[in-house]
Formats: sequence, structure tokens, C-alpha cells
Amino acid sequence: MHDAVVQIDGRLYAGDEARISVFDRGFLFGDSVYEVLRTLRGRPLFWPEHHARLVASAGYLSLELGPGLDEAALRARIDETLAAVPSVEKYLRVIVTRGVGDLSLAGPHGPPTVVIIARPLTLLPAEVYADGCALAVFRLPATDVTGLDPRAKTGDKRTGVLAEAAARAAGAYEGLRVTADDRVLEGASSTFFLVRGGVIVTPPLAAGILAGITRGQVLGLARRLGLPADERPIGLAELDTAEECFITSTVRGVVPVCRIDHRPYGPPGPVTRRVMAAYAARMAESVGP
Ligand SMILES: Cc1ncc(COP(=O)(O)O)c(C=O)c1O
Repeated sequence: MHDAVVQIDGRLYAGDEARISVFDRGFLFGDSVYEVLRTLRGRPLFWPEHHARLVASAGYLSLELGPGLDEAALRARIDETLAAVPSVEKYLRVIVTRGVGDLSLAGPHGPPTVVIIARPLTLLPAEVYADGCALAVFRLPATDVTGLDPRAKTGDKRTGVLAEAAARAAGAYEGLRVTADDRVLEGASSTFFLVRGGVIVTPPLAAGILAGITRGQVLGLARRLGLPADERPIGLAELDTAEECFITSTVRGVVPVCRIDHRPYGPPGPVTRRVMAAYAARMAESVGP
């Protein structure tokens, strides 16, 4: 990727020249954890929250980060990588793999491989925020109960890849994961919210969804603004009677949904617009002047 700068184990490379070993366990087994961030005013947004989730993901996989990868050390590597990208706002991906191994699942391996990718931030076109995006339901097979282990953000993105491909083939923007027994989970790479009876609803983490950083911010804002919000299971049939829907992710923020398959929701509703405005203010507040 020619506009990216990549740091691998402390060394900076042009995006097109960055390489890791084929024996790296991240490549071989998806044995890795990662975070995606964006900057605001050049600074990584919600860094403490992303760092905490990275540590939790690594802990769940028993992937030892070690003292060389404590918060300050990792942040220093991130700042060095960001400084090498000329644009003001940047996209940032931090990947930590278990390191280079010997092809066996439990064999010896080297220290963790730390890859930091930074590139200029590309935001969604303004029309998507004004008009909303279309989602397509992606049915998980009965054998894949949630499609994702909610306890960690790992390199295994297989259901996300399949859901995205199916959504694009259906002319939609993103796939919405729904279990074989009709429980709505989350987008391929976003948290799902609906508004029904004026209440903001999102599935609980126990449903098998990622603990989205933006999700946490939106639920916190709802509390602050006195907007009723509920974390509870969402049945597929509820999509028919939802008044508004939106999705959230770190890079895109709060994105209104105008359609899910054949169900139209129209332009962004009042609750979605309130959450979008509050989230924009929260982002600015969190990085400071
Ligand atoms: C499956 C999944 N759910 C939700 C999200 C949104 O999480 P966050 O708000 O931390 O970006 C992502 C982001 O990549 C994701 O992959």
C-alpha cells in the first residue's frame, strides 16, 4: 500500500516494502491481536481505551506482551510511525502476533511481532452521514454460533470477510451478522444499534459481539444525555418495527442506516442525529484543544 508507513519491530518501512516472515504465527494461524484507531488533531483517539482492549485481547490469548510493549513503549512506537505520515489525520492499525514459530500450533516461537500501520485517514463521503448506508443481513451457519469470540479482537476475521463479500454482492454497504436462530449481532466491522419506542438498543456483549470502543462511548453519551438505552438481545423481527438504526466504529464514528435488505428507515432520525452530534463533541473533548 503505497501511502502507508509501516513499523515492524521498531523499524520503519514504506508500505510497499514492509514484509514479515511466512512463519509468523499471525500469518499462519491468525494468532494475533490488533486495534484500529484514528487520529483527531493528529492524536490517536481514545488511545487508553484501545490500549486496554489490546491488553485484554492479548491476555485472553495468553500472548505475553512483555515490558518492552508496555503502554508508554507502544505509544512511543505509534507516535514515531504517525510522525512519518504527512497528512494531519491518520488511520492506524496496531497488530501484535505471537511471533515467528515452527509450523506447529504449540511449538516454540520468538518474541511477539509488532506491526504498526499508519496511512492518511479516509473518511466516508458526507452523503453517507446525510442519507445513511444500506446493510444486508448475513446469516451465520448454525455451526458458527456467533461467528466471533467476543473476548478478544484477534486476526481471525473470517465471518467479517464473508459478510462483507455477501453485502457487496447484494449492493449493500455492510453485512449484518445474524445467528441461525434469528438474533441480530453486529456489522461485519461495526456495532449495531436500533431505536424502538424511543429507546436506543444494542445487543449485550454476552450475545457474542466485540466490545466496541465507539459502542462504549455511545452508551456513555446516552447516559449523560438522559437518552434511554438498553443492552439486550435483538430479534430479527424487531428490524421490521425499528424506528431508526445506526452502526458505529472507530474510523467511521456513528453512521445512520437507511435500509436493511428490503426494510427502509428513511433519512437519519432524531435520535441518531442527536447521537451523531454528541459523539462528534465527545471526540473533540477527548483529544482536547
Ligand atoms: C466485529 C466488529 N464489531 C464492532 C467493531 C467496532 O468496534 P470499535 O468501535 O472499537 O471500532 C469492529 C471494528 O473493527 C468489528 O470488527
